[in-house]
Amino acid sequence: MTIPSEHGLHAAQPTRILAIETSCDETAAAVVDDGRHVRSSVVASQIALHQQYGGVFPEMASRAHIEAIAPVLQRAMSEAGASWESLNAVAVTKGPGLPGSLVVGVNAAKGICLARDLPLVGVNHLEGHIYSHWLGDAPITRLGEDPFPLLALIVSGGHTELVLVRGHGDYELVGHTVDDAAGEAYDKVARMLGLGYPGGPAVEQVARSGNPARFKFSRPRLDKPYNFSFSGTKTAVLYVTRRFGGMTDGKLSPRVPVADIAASFQESVAEWLVEKTMRVAELNNVKGILVGGGVSANRVLRERLSAAAGSRQPQPITVLFPPLWLCTDNAAMIGAAAHFAYWRGVRDDLDMDVRPDLKLGD
Ligand code: KG4
Ligand code: ZN
Repeated sequence: MTIPSEHGLHAAQPTRILAIETSCDETAAAVVDDGRHVRSSVVASQIALHQQYGGVFPEMASRAHIEAIAPVLQRAMSEAGASWESLNAVAVTKGPGLPGSLVVGVNAAKGICLARDLPLVGVNHLEGHIYSHWLGDAPITRLGEDPFPLLALIVSGGHTELVLVRGHGDYELVGHTVDDAAGEAYDKVARMLGLGYPGGPAVEQVARSGNPARFKFSRPRLDKPYNFSFSGTKTAVLYVTRRFGGMTDGKLSPRVPVADIAASFQESVAEWLVEKTMRVAELNNVKGILVGGGVSANRVLRERLSAAAGSRQPQPITVLFPPLWLCTDNAAMIGAAAHFAYWRGVRDDLDMDVRPDLKLGD
């Protein structure tokens, strides 16, 4: 068995993987060739369902996955023009995520493996966000033949993690949030400001007309310098909102300066993420920084991080952001991660359980 070279643009032999992702509130399936070519990527979003609760409702998410999984799989296969016989493996997110959601994708994957006698490859969802950079135009190639070591900043609704990537499958978790994830803080702040769900895009939208310097949200002190905490900032936003009349019976006082609060919050989150990311990147002399997860769609974060890394002395550090359709959850990224795992010989048994608290490197 030959392992594909560095950034995996040269598969040992053509490899086609059907990938499934159901860790949170998107039911997704994709067919990916050689860890790079996305033959199809279908994402059934549950946003409309969860909007009424202002966040993901786990029991509802699980049941919505059950309804969506078979049609999504059928569409992914037919849009790819792929036959079941042409598949080399089935990949699925085994964790981290909501247990009841993960179970649906994992069981679907097992069923296909059983029926078609295909190998099963369980993938860590966060690894998927990292490998989104290997897809399509493969932004990773900008780092040259050997892109390692890399620093990955994963910022989503469930995660805020700094991961040192020394090679394929070789991860060290350097920092993580001790409470809310960055995206979760966005979602909660959006709710306080009477904006919709998901909060990130809504906050970003209103922040455009706001003054980011009007409010200063101080940062909590943490035991470990590379960890994050967002719950204090979220509470600070709540107090500022209350100072201007706050929310009564679900109605926000017209005196609340929504745009200025949103802009100041967005600026604080970006500044904080950038500062820690740059410190870890420099300390480890990384060749590049990869950003992934829903919050990596945020324009202010993109601008601040690109500026900081680009002006770094004596040498700038390259920062890569996935295209917007690969920032949020999808199955194509699971297929890319699975490709490298497959060629490392990773195979899971059909009694594989879901791992809701799975860590990178486990
Ligand atoms: O990666 P993702 O689709 O799902 C998880 O694995 O959690 O991330 C969703 C999160 C949500 O919290 C959403 O509010 C946030 O990403 N998000 C954003 C933006 N777009 C999505 N946050 C800030 N700015 C955005 N433009
Ligand atoms: Zn995600």
